[in-house]
Amino acid sequence: AHPRTYERATETVIYLRSQLPDVLQNPRVAIVCGSGLGGLADTIEDEPKVALPYENVPNMPRSTVVGHAGKFVFGLVGPKKLPVVLLVGRAHFYEGHSMDLVTFATRVCKVLGVETMLVTNAAGGLNQQYAVGDIMCLNDHLNLPGFVGMHPLRGPNIEEFGVRFPPLSDAYDLELRKLTHQAWRKLGLHKQKRRLHEGVYAFLAGPTYETRAECRMLRSFGADVVGMSTVPEIVVARHSGMRVLAFSLVTNCAVLEAGPRGDDEAVQAMSKDELTAFLSKGKANHEEVLEAGREAAKDMQALVKQILCDYAEL
Ligand code: 6GU
Repeated sequence: AHPRTYERATETVIYLRSQLPDVLQNPRVAIVCGSGLGGLADTIEDEPKVALPYENVPNMPRSTVVGHAGKFVFGLVGPKKLPVVLLVGRAHFYEGHSMDLVTFATRVCKVLGVETMLVTNAAGGLNQQYAVGDIMCLNDHLNLPGFVGMHPLRGPNIEEFGVRFPPLSDAYDLELRKLTHQAWRKLGLHKQKRRLHEGVYAFLAGPTYETRAECRMLRSFGADVVGMSTVPEIVVARHSGMRVLAFSLVTNCAVLEAGPRGDDEAVQAMSKDELTAFLSKGKANHEEVLEAGREAAKDMQALVKQILCDYAEL
């Protein structure tokens, strides 16, 4: 573990607070925006609103993604003027960051006094009932890198945040999940084709997408979707007692059937071009992930806004 994580998060918070007006000093909810979900920043009122690029914020990990490194956006949501902080862009483990850096922004949220983390991501669907564009509210997870020691809480326990052996059997807040389903109905979203599910997220380190055999394995393990983020943040959030609500946007459907065999007679009869066309279907690619995100982003935005408004009334 990186030494002095609590002290470094405190330094970061001192910087952030130095940039914020009084009304934005104490955000109650943090919203982590996944791939293509940066539009969630529009759910907050226009004034006061403060955007702080990660590159200007002390101790934040350097992004390896070209273009936008990401930013904190502080603002108020809804008639109750709920103070929130958005994390637009996150550090991924596959970029080469340590688990400490991947979860540093979550630590910062805790030191800021955030009560609830609302975490979003783009994921691949493993459950055959899920369609591209559906949303899954996480009710559990598989921390597969954690099984082999790539765990954000490995190392000396930081007592300022929480206990040595935190339970995770209640990681996904039931009251907030109830609120989510109520918000979905309240918005009339249950009358259209996009569906809201509840299920299990399998975390893999990436950066490759899964093989067909890996997809079948994950499905047999009980996973409904698979992705490359979110779980480290949730583990760290729960360690420090924050409430958690998390959503996956299903941006593509993972392929579970075995691939074509070289000894299959139909395959033997195919030309090179026919084989290329045959193999391209069902292959995960970054473009379709971004496209599905653009279309579903509006519903996800409306859902998050409704949840935040209802949360302010709790
Ligand atoms: Cl299919 N797999 C993983 N690991 N992450 C994803 C994905 C699939 N689709 C979006 N993100």
